[in-house]
Amino acid sequence: MQLKIALLGGDGIGPEVLAQSVKCLKAIEETFNHRFEFVEAPFGAIAMTGSGRPLPDETLALCQEADAILFGAIGALDYDNNPEAKVRPEQGLLRLRKELGLFASIRPIKMFPAFLENSPLKRNIVDHTDLVIFRELTGGIYFGKKTLSEDGTTASDLCSYSESEISRIAHLAFKAAKKRRKKVTLVDKANVLESSRLWRKTVTNIAQSYPDISFECLFIDNAAVQMMLNPRQFDVILTDNMFGDILSDQGSVILGSVGLLPSASVGLENAMFEPFHGSYPQAKGKNIANPVASILSSAMLLQHFGLDEEANAIVAAVHKSFVKKVVTTDVLGSSKYGTDYVGDFISENIVESDDNPSI
Ligand code: IPM
Ligand code: MN
Repeated sequence: MQLKIALLGGDGIGPEVLAQSVKCLKAIEETFNHRFEFVEAPFGAIAMTGSGRPLPDETLALCQEADAILFGAIGALDYDNNPEAKVRPEQGLLRLRKELGLFASIRPIKMFPAFLENSPLKRNIVDHTDLVIFRELTGGIYFGKKTLSEDGTTASDLCSYSESEISRIAHLAFKAAKKRRKKVTLVDKANVLESSRLWRKTVTNIAQSYPDISFECLFIDNAAVQMMLNPRQFDVILTDNMFGDILSDQGSVILGSVGLLPSASVGLENAMFEPFHGSYPQAKGKNIANPVASILSSAMLLQHFGLDEEANAIVAAVHKSFVKKVVTTDVLGSSKYGTDYVGDFISENIVESDDNPSI
């Protein structure tokens, strides 16, 4: 297969972890005989230094015409510590998601035996966790009208959803559940929020057209607790933009590091693959960042194009790195390996095999 892949390294540790994914994709090209063309483009705080804009027009144009986008991370301390900043790097990411119509963020959280001892939670709780969060990505409070009073003492962010925004991601979630353990949990705050009541009404209706899928609703506060007490009860979690953001970081505790979790942001025309984690500016250039979230995001990219065997070869190599304890310092407690070394190890261990595990 031939694919043109836009590479947006972005800020902080983004470029370093992305470089490890590219090594893995090059290994896939060779092992499975594909052709990938990689094109890099500026994005985030780094792009603002030149153009003042986190998403330059040429970067957006490249993303629109590429088959897929692999994205590293976004955000910088200068902006985090300055509430007065008028333009922020994160706005580039939000605009990119919106412009490309990437309305669904698919965030799998799956426990594997090799990861077990890394979890800070009890083994009997996290063992066999296999859930996926479908987070709505282009609506809700992230994109609603924002106001700040003239005297700067009152601010607001509107959370607004339309039925069509809800139903398009709901259908994706139910279709995914059909291929999994056939359960969808809608997470909302319908006891308080009008937008959540629309979610509940819309999704409950849609659930009727999927009679083989069991459907339940949970309030976000309870869902957060349930996810720590018994994550195995979940299969597909469907939720809005803000709740999905929080719940997915919380879910990363199950595996013990946010540096392990990949995601796919998909729409009708485009798809972007990105780690859960942020830009971790404190670690930039130190060769300590965990490249696994980015590497597994590249596996999701392959899966998106139906290259399951190739995706599984990457997952197997990641597992091997755990088994051999070739991991960065954020996992397993005792490692001394750098980002580059782990990336080399994983890419060099990509092999064709019938019994590679899946994401
Ligand atoms: C994520 C990130 C982003 C988000 C930030 C960087 C804007 O936290 O992808 O989860 O909140 O969506
Ligand atoms: Mn987040």
